[in-house]
Amino acid sequence: MEKTFLMVKPDGVQRQLIGEIVSRFESKGLQLVGAKLMSIPTELAEKHYGEHKGKPFYDSLVDFITSGPVFAMVWQGENVIELTRKMMGKTNPKDAEPGTIRGDYSMYVSKNIIHGSDSTESAVREIGLFFNENEIVEYEKLINNWIY
Ligand code: PPS
Repeated sequence: MEKTFLMVKPDGVQRQLIGEIVSRFESKGLQLVGAKLMSIPTELAEKHYGEHKGKPFYDSLVDFITSGPVFAMVWQGENVIELTRKMMGKTNPKDAEPGTIRGDYSMYVSKNIIHGSDSTESAVREIGLFFNENEIVEYEKLINNWIY
């Protein structure tokens, strides 16, 4: 089953949006298989956003993501990467459609509430950076027959 890494960023945690965000993915029919509230050490933030090193926003992005706790999650389901990216909305909230998480809850790209893996390769890499194997809980989703 396809998995993705999703993370409520420090602004979403401070604004108490964890429950709302988890609820949206649960209601869609996706399955939560890993989750933790954590502070990101600078070294992990630099690895996570390594591909953006040198871009003008890199330093402020690392400062922001390490500025307070985040809620890190692993979700699984059919097409979970594409689906969750759609549900998050465009990276810049000014372009994000109403009904998406960023479209409904954020104004600025520097505080855009949520991160989600954008490909299978980045999902595998990011899950590996943030979670140990024993923190991913595989369990049968008994409601599956009613959803898909
Ligand atoms: S790029 O250059 O197209 O690859 O960048 P992009 O995919 O749009 O964004 C990469 C991550 O950087 C965040 N970002 C920013 N943070 C702060 N300030 C500014 N101006 C800014 N622009 C982009 C963006 O939210 C992406 O982080 P994640 O965690 O993936 O959302």
